[in-house]
Amino acid sequence: MQQNKKILVIMGSPRKGNTFRACEELRGFLEKELAVEFEYLWLKDANLQPCRGCLACFAQGEERCPNRDDAPRIEQKIHDADAVIFATPVYGMNVSGQMKTFIDRLSYVFHRPRFFDKKALLLTTAGILGNEDVLKYLDTVARVWGFEVAGTVGIVTAAPVPQYRIDENRNAIARAAGKLAAALLRGSRKSPGLMDVVLFHGQRAAFSQLEEVSPADYRYWKEKGWLDRGTKYFVDVPVNPLYNIIGVIVEWFSARGVKKDLALGPGETA
Ligand SMILES: Cc1cc2nc3c(=O)[nH]c(=O)nc-3n(C[C@H](O)[C@H](O)[C@H](O)COP(=O)(O)O)c2cc1C
Repeated sequence: MQQNKKILVIMGSPRKGNTFRACEELRGFLEKELAVEFEYLWLKDANLQPCRGCLACFAQGEERCPNRDDAPRIEQKIHDADAVIFATPVYGMNVSGQMKTFIDRLSYVFHRPRFFDKKALLLTTAGILGNEDVLKYLDTVARVWGFEVAGTVGIVTAAPVPQYRIDENRNAIARAAGKLAAALLRGSRKSPGLMDVVLFHGQRAAFSQLEEVSPADYRYWKEKGWLDRGTKYFVDVPVNPLYNIIGVIVEWFSARGVKKDLALGPGETA
């Protein structure tokens, strides 16, 4: 028998409002397609202290963060899930403060990505303006962290919401739910796109040379085998040969730039 798929909603809204209602509607559509276990992680209730900017997590490892808060517990919850829904209202043309604090606090994952076996769905709500930009931002975050982004949905909420808008919102949620359900039922990871492959090679150009400057990053990349010659991507999936060639070229040029910068002392010019 198929096990329930665990869906973790990382909720960036500070209230049970439009964003929560959209997630509940999404849950309804998902439940029609597969058995799911839905859990809300309310960032407003989490103990997440704002990043202090010391950079210790990047260079020395996340265990060196001076904040003693819920970040490790939240990371574990993500590992325990099959899919994560990043849900946030648009605030000032960006994610909510709660969501941004969460992203900052887990920023070491940008350097040391890890959620390759997880699907992500991105959901935003906005009065009128900003869904597109914020979804694009969340798409970058989720991809760089390793997720396969299965779908995105932006909901417009300015009252009074006319009937056609209610229908549009509902259809958009249904489509996104369908995409997430299909990705969960497929299970396996899709082949990476061009930008994913370029990202792998671009990061490799840097981290392969940062043994002294950023030892935690270097060690992580080395231990994963990502610095081995011929490795084409973070995980073993087919990579489009043309994307690979482009990635190798990007890596070559990027590595030259990094090498040049590392050879210069602080404030020195070439
Ligand atoms: C502080 C704040 C900033 C907001 N900024 C925007 C914005 O930039 N663009 C927009 O269209 N709506 C904006 N809104 C409206 C919310 O995005 C919208 O009402 C959203 O659906 C609220 O979600 P919630 O009910 O889950 O809190 C803002 C609302 C608040 C409270």
